[in-house]
Amino acid sequence: MRFLPLLSMLALPAAVLAADYRTVLADITAISDQLENLSTSVDAVTSGIPGLPYALQVQVDATTLDKRIQAGAQNANASPAFGGGSLQVGLALIGLQPKITDSLEQISEKNTTFGELGIIVLASLTQLKTDTTAFSDEIVPKLGALEAAIAPAVVQAIENAFDGAIAAYESNGEFTHIC
Ligand SMILES: *[C@@H]1O[C@H](CO)[C@@H](O)[C@H](O)[C@H]1NC(C)=O
Ligand SMILES: *[C@@H]1O[C@H](CO)[C@@H](O)[C@H](O)[C@H]1NC(C)=O
Repeated sequence: MRFLPLLSMLALPAAVLAADYRTVLADITAISDQLENLSTSVDAVTSGIPGLPYALQVQVDATTLDKRIQAGAQNANASPAFGGGSLQVGLALIGLQPKITDSLEQISEKNTTFGELGIIVLASLTQLKTDTTAFSDEIVPKLGALEAAIAPAVVQAIENAFDGAIAAYESNGEFTHIC
């Protein structure tokens, strides 16, 4: 545990320097794994005080996920064009999309369960959408022509799922008076 700050200081510049399509593939895997953690936590959320620890865990998982997505964007930016790795990255993105949309649907369905904390979920979703868009904006120009042609539909499906989830929390009457 106490090695973590040192490790993260060392790991970041190294990852950025050595970034290539393999780094980006590893980032997509980490994002996918963290989405599973988030889904598990969202599943556990119940309404009211007893659900509070689970709702806070969702917040922790969403923050971790966001950091993974930001690291992915940084690595994709630092990577040369994916070249021969382009198909692998394209397929990884295609595989990631339903995981993102499923998680977001699951979060949408819980819009009333989060109660007053819905406003925090809304802020997280907005941040995640911004960073996911930045991530895909870094990836798409590094793809080969075939994968770059397929990518916009994948990215659009992700953006639509975010918009749906954001709308579910924006429409939640419990806290709209705060907005
Ligand atoms: C998912 O949660 C487990 C248990 O807390 C943790 O060890 C793991 O690192 C998490 N996954 C990611 C990708 O952060
Ligand atoms: C918001 O929550 C309600 C109650 O659980 C649910 O019926 C509704 O479908 C949810 N909205 C969305 C967009 O998922």
